[in-house]
Amino acid sequence: MEAFTELAQRAEQAFGEARTPAELEDAKARFLGKSGEVTAQMKQLASLGADEKKARGAEINAAKQRVEALLSARRQALAEAELALQLRAESLDITLPGRRRGSGGLHPITRAMERIEAIFGSMGFEVADGPEIETDWFNFTALNTPADHPARSMHDTFYVEGGNVLRTHTSPMQIRHAVRHVKAHRAALDAGLPMPEIRVIAPGRTYRVDSDATHSPMFHQVEGLWIGESISFKDLKSVYVSFIRAFFETSDLQIRFRPSYFPFTEPSAEIDMMFGSGPLKGRWLEVSGSGQVHPQVIRNMGLDPERYIGFAFGSGIDRLAMLRYGVADLRLFFDGDLRFLSQFK
Ligand code: DAH
Repeated sequence: MEAFTELAQRAEQAFGEARTPAELEDAKARFLGKSGEVTAQMKQLASLGADEKKARGAEINAAKQRVEALLSARRQALAEAELALQLRAESLDITLPGRRRGSGGLHPITRAMERIEAIFGSMGFEVADGPEIETDWFNFTALNTPADHPARSMHDTFYVEGGNVLRTHTSPMQIRHAVRHVKAHRAALDAGLPMPEIRVIAPGRTYRVDSDATHSPMFHQVEGLWIGESISFKDLKSVYVSFIRAFFETSDLQIRFRPSYFPFTEPSAEIDMMFGSGPLKGRWLEVSGSGQVHPQVIRNMGLDPERYIGFAFGSGIDRLAMLRYGVADLRLFFDGDLRFLSQFK
């Protein structure tokens, strides 16, 4: 009797030490398996006499039932522990703050473009768009810059297959838009009737072989064009001054037109501005090229330069954005660094 109590205790200890169902099955085999301790005791019964066999058999059975009960208790305990572990692993801490999806914002160049479009829109300008891969004709020749013209060297650029270029400026849009406009009003023109004025801006990407803190191989310009029967430099001046004041939201600035040269305008001027206050106070900053559209360019638009006249300008959008947002290095706009970009949200 004593021996079986001790056996049950050992079984209990062995089962208790089993940490996994597999370990428990091993322990089970040691007691209840074919060559386990309980089974060995059973086998010994055969050699006993009838009375002893009966008494001992009952004890062994009792011990076996005890061991089986211990085993199933341990099985259940292990299964419960495993379930508890699994539940804990799968638990959700609903008190944690959610993972937000970062809210995006418009790129500062996009914002500057939208401002420019809104301001010129309020002055009656249409917005036109055109190809960044441009033909030699539109990018240069139609703008009075033939193949051997020295001004081409200022526009060192990327040539692509077929003799096309990545446009070096938005000025080709002057021709593209004017030609479209003239075509749309062909009938009126042929009948000698007045043509509605051309009043358009064309913002977009431009390309040159240039790279430093104030030049990027890809940059942005906005072209402006206003052609009619009596559009003068005076109009250029009032339009551009209004634009700059609206763009920078201040009248505390000066603007000057400095004589310059462009093949597609005559006369030509560079437009400089100077803030009356702030960190850039007192410094002339160049913001645009401009001029009265050259008669040859008017002709290339399909119009008679004796009748039609007007102005054009081409401004650097990146430059305007740098001045407006106080950004010193142009490259920040194109690095894609969220620490910089998120400041404009
Ligand atoms: N396209 C010129 C450039 O990129 C800028 C320019 C100058 C545009 C005079 C004009 C203009 O429309 O009239 O350097």
